[in-house]
Amino acid sequence: MKTILITGGAQGIGRGLVEHFLSQGWNVTAVDIQEMAPGDRLETVCGDTSLEETARRAVAKTMERFGRVDALINNAGVGTSQKFKVEDLSLVEWNRVLGINLTGYFLMAKYAAPFLRQTNGTIVNIASTRALMSEPDSEAYAASKGGVVALTHALAVSLGPDVRVNCISPGWIETRENAVHSEADRLQHPAGRVGIPQDIAELADYLLSAGFVTGQNFVADGGMTKKMIYAE
Ligand SMILES: NC(=O)c1ccc[n+]([C@@H]2O[C@H](COP(=O)([O-])OP(=O)(O)OC[C@H]3O[C@@H](n4cnc5c(N)ncnc54)[C@H](O)[C@@H]3O)[C@@H](O)[C@H]2O)c1
Repeated sequence: MKTILITGGAQGIGRGLVEHFLSQGWNVTAVDIQEMAPGDRLETVCGDTSLEETARRAVAKTMERFGRVDALINNAGVGTSQKFKVEDLSLVEWNRVLGINLTGYFLMAKYAAPFLRQTNGTIVNIASTRALMSEPDSEAYAASKGGVVALTHALAVSLGPDVRVNCISPGWIETRENAVHSEADRLQHPAGRVGIPQDIAELADYLLSAGFVTGQNFVADGGMTKKMIYAE
């Protein structure tokens, strides 16, 4: 049975990914810094993905329980809720964000690669439209996500033809239950709504089977980054 490793699986987009792939019959290993309960076809690993030990343990536990790795989705990340003016952005904070959002993706890819090669597997990295455009005071996050887009094509070239590697850049994905959005929020999206985790899961699922697609970044943002905005 096909097996997928998903990081950041405890909540938000990652939890949506875990639920989607379980519902599609996959074995899933969910990795998160938060504790999660294991279940039928669900292995869980608690750890910080910016640490090498977590990546090594996550892959080892997956092989022990399921005997194979067919796919990896790197999703665990820290967001933009904390903003720092660039003059006040400490090196410690910069390294923390890069460590989780970028180094963690590299480490998971490094330890999963030998097993992905055996199955002609696939990696999907979750970046962000912040790789392409910015708000003020988001340097560490933007740089980490730009790094994920570049890491994706580098891995695709290095691991091909055995392993395909693609990237999804989500726009605004609502991860709260029962959130209500204003008309203005909805209409800034040409698609007419804010995204949901299932939108990302469906694209990731497509990329796992899209055999001639590798090294690419796919923006899933309801068209938001294509809409021009003029101040009146
Ligand atoms: N929600 C959005 O609008 C949006 C938009 C663009 C990109 N993204 C990206 O999608 C991914 C998921 O975002 P989300 O909105 O679901 O975030 P979230 O904060 O709801 O979930 C992130 C998950 O990652 C886990 N995590 C955080 N640091 C970790 C670490 N060091 N080790 C292991 N696990 C860790 C958290 O515990 C959590 O379960 C992130 O990479 C984020 O940058 C989200």
